[in-house]
Amino acid sequence: MTQQTKQIPVCSIILDEDIYPRKGIDHRRVGIFAENIRDGFAFDPIEVAPCPDKPDLYRLLDGAHRWSAFKSTGVEKVNAIIKDLDGKDPLLYAAAKAIGPKQLTEDEARDTARRAYSRNSSLNSADIGKAIGRARRTVDAYIADLRAVNQMGLDIKIFRMNRLGIPQERIAERLGIARTSLIYHLSKMAALPNSTNADLSKGFTVAQVAQKHGWTEPMVWSLALEGKNDQDRFKELGWGYCTWDKWEWNDCDKRFGDDWPGRIPAQMIGHILRCFSKPDDLILDPMAGGGVTPDTCLAMGRRCWAFDMKDRPETRPEIEPFHWDMSSDQGLLWPVSAKGKPDLIIFDPPYFDKKAADYDKKSISGLSRKAYLEFLAAFFILLKQNVKKTTRMAFINADWRDFQNKPAIEEKYKGGILLDDYLDVLKKAGWYHTHIIQAPMSSQRFNAGVVSAMQKKNILGVISRYVIVLGQEC
Ligand SMILES: C[S@@+](CC[C@H](N)C(=O)[O-])C[C@H]1O[C@@H](n2cnc3c(N)ncnc32)[C@H](O)[C@@H]1O
Repeated sequence: MTQQTKQIPVCSIILDEDIYPRKGIDHRRVGIFAENIRDGFAFDPIEVAPCPDKPDLYRLLDGAHRWSAFKSTGVEKVNAIIKDLDGKDPLLYAAAKAIGPKQLTEDEARDTARRAYSRNSSLNSADIGKAIGRARRTVDAYIADLRAVNQMGLDIKIFRMNRLGIPQERIAERLGIARTSLIYHLSKMAALPNSTNADLSKGFTVAQVAQKHGWTEPMVWSLALEGKNDQDRFKELGWGYCTWDKWEWNDCDKRFGDDWPGRIPAQMIGHILRCFSKPDDLILDPMAGGGVTPDTCLAMGRRCWAFDMKDRPETRPEIEPFHWDMSSDQGLLWPVSAKGKPDLIIFDPPYFDKKAADYDKKSISGLSRKAYLEFLAAFFILLKQNVKKTTRMAFINADWRDFQNKPAIEEKYKGGILLDDYLDVLKKAGWYHTHIIQAPMSSQRFNAGVVSAMQKKNILGVISRYVIVLGQEC
């Protein structure tokens, strides 16, 4: 923790209630300090820290009464220690300073402990207690309910990740907890679904139960459908089963996955799982985006390892952050240890170049056509090197032609990437297709105005999308 002492304008200092541990200013005390200032008494410097969002202002860490007295007596500049707290919690630092001259009241201590823990649940009771002048046990009692809610949140995350078959060391690392603590939580897992199951057996719907218990719907589906075969799972989910090679839906199933650019229908993942995997198989989704694959795997009773460069630890702990990066010194790397190899890969990459604005700057959607195809070539080889000989891949893609604003007759051969381009790269990497299933996007994505403009110019849009299923044997 660093600090410097300076004369700074009184008006550049604010009292930020967010990090002030007391209920209010004691005006009698300010009055006494104001008298002292008029009598020429020199005070210790007050302590401040730069405001995080307002670079010209400082917020008080210690000396709220002295600062108020300076203001009331018209002093323009004061001696202040400017602290860099180096990650230390500012509220607890301010509380530790406040109890020097006068203990916090019971209300203030309780409130400060709760506020500090709510902002940072990794703080322990002993540290909070030291800062607010209370015993660890007293702090335990102050925050017991908050901790219970938080523990439940943690238990739900562990339950979800464990149910998806993510190994313990990765769960512990992802959630920032010790292995021993994870093992303790896992020992409670068998009992965790009891109340959820009880509500399901009373006839409440999956959506009602999910809302009541703060679970996601796919997690409740994973309990509600436990022990059922794929056919019954489809029936309960309300999905018809297409037994031919054209799968068509007008919309995504909103119960699975988040609102995400390029979101695919869960029904499509359901069909892929039903046709090309078995219950409890391990599914790998290397660019999982909004999480349709892990959610559908929960409902279909498959394990799933999912990765994406976009990290959302709170809402999507099961999607582990990983950037498939060709430009790194070591080239493309595999994210996990050699143990555990998937039975099926579901790969839904973003389009190249033209969709760059939808994703992160480092996404492969920012690559040129050439670089994108080179990435895929290297990526398919990497997949082959790290999976079993029997592992299949379902590669989801769509023709991407440069049709915007261009009559069909003017489109050039090299403008886009089409089905045969993908097949070429796949074959060269040793992946051979057994099925090309049509899974067109809804034509409803072109609204009436757009369709009429396309008709006038003879533009031919794209709604074709394919699920190419591949194995590794010729
Ligand atoms: C088409 S989206 C996947 C959508 C997903 N199937 C769904 O339905 O929500 C493609 C994802 O690839 C991710 N992505 C793109 N380039 C990546 C890279 N180099 N490494 C890791 N993730 C990447 C993006 O962040 C994006 O979430």
